[in-house]
Amino acid sequence: MPTFSERGAGMPSSPIRKLAPFAAAAEGEGVKIYHLNIGQPDIPTPEKAIEAIRRISRTTLEYSPSQGFLSLRQAFSRYYSRYGITVDPEEIIVTSGGSFALLFTFMSCLDPGDEIIIPEPSYANYFSFAKSAGAVVRTVTSRIEDGFALPPVEEFEKMITPKTKAILICNPNNPTGGLYSPEEMQRLREIVLRHDLFLLSDEVYREFVYDGAAYCSALSLEGLDDNVIVIDSVSKRYSECGIRIGMMVTRNAALRAVMMKFCQARLSPPLLGQIVAENSVDGTEDYQKKVYDEYISRRDFIVKGLNRIPGVFTNLPGGAFYTIVRLPVEDAEDFCRWCLTDFRYTGVLPGGETVMLAPAAGFYATPGLGRNEVRIAYVLNKEDLGRALDVLARALEEYRSR
Ligand SMILES: Cc1ncc(COP(=O)(O)O)c(C=O)c1O
Repeated sequence: MPTFSERGAGMPSSPIRKLAPFAAAAEGEGVKIYHLNIGQPDIPTPEKAIEAIRRISRTTLEYSPSQGFLSLRQAFSRYYSRYGITVDPEEIIVTSGGSFALLFTFMSCLDPGDEIIIPEPSYANYFSFAKSAGAVVRTVTSRIEDGFALPPVEEFEKMITPKTKAILICNPNNPTGGLYSPEEMQRLREIVLRHDLFLLSDEVYREFVYDGAAYCSALSLEGLDDNVIVIDSVSKRYSECGIRIGMMVTRNAALRAVMMKFCQARLSPPLLGQIVAENSVDGTEDYQKKVYDEYISRRDFIVKGLNRIPGVFTNLPGGAFYTIVRLPVEDAEDFCRWCLTDFRYTGVLPGGETVMLAPAAGFYATPGLGRNEVRIAYVLNKEDLGRALDVLARALEEYRSR
């Protein structure tokens, strides 16, 4: 057999999906699984967007411009202006989800061997995109004991070498739910300027900022027009993960010209997805407010419930819809697998119930970190979250008394 590329063989496997075969087997046996492992919201998509699909009357489903439809980019530009951010439609490039915005940004900014600094724990796919580009990830560690605050600026500066090209942040953060304050963003701005780096800011959870906290988009940082690339997406905002629409936003025209070469090679972003996205941006403020309130009540509910389970600890996340949870087990991955293969909460549903969680070790680049942590996505309704908490509490009790 011909050999695969070393790059492909070295790609990390997704910590979120790697337990999927065990979940499929349990589901095949009729077990009800509460999926807290993946950021797939159960929230309905805005009716207006669904209606737009029903109204499609095209006779040919053609390619669209490589940069994305102008009307969609204009809609996104209006969206940013509602946040006080001025972005010209020309500064927006539409991609297949935030995922391809990340991939094309990595490919456009980093050469093999270049270094990118990422706070850990981090969205695990950053490691895969870095691997695809041949880039080397250097991490600064944030810790559950400190509420996953962004490590001090000195920690970032210590990691900078002549090979460093970029810093990547996710704000609000997946997987920690952490939020960077405007002061922290200013400190990052100073480092980026001092060392002439790219600042990649993944803001796909921008809507989900809680407790009245001030939010500072990287696009609002002064003097960084050539440095900042914002990654954005409609997936979580409008519960439209399946339409695959995201974008990269940068005021750096030369960089956009490079990004466009990747975009032209893949011809165009999804046609139908763009139509749906365009119909989601305006006139959905009430929808967004409802979704926001729902997530706050889920967050409060799950965090309180988790901290009530003996030996379990989690912080109150300031944003997004995830939280990292410390469990009273040595090896959270083993526990997560056992929940799917061995444990069944019986007596309520005929086939039994269990939970699926994401082991947190895969969100850290540093070996050994996060071994007793999991990430929970509070993307289920409160009734299911309540059941999931009961099931988790029983699972922990049984696992520890084996
Ligand atoms: C932090 C972060 N960035 C980007 C993405 C990519 O999302 P999509 O490709 O659906 O836009 C996700 C998805 O979970 C995410 O959590």
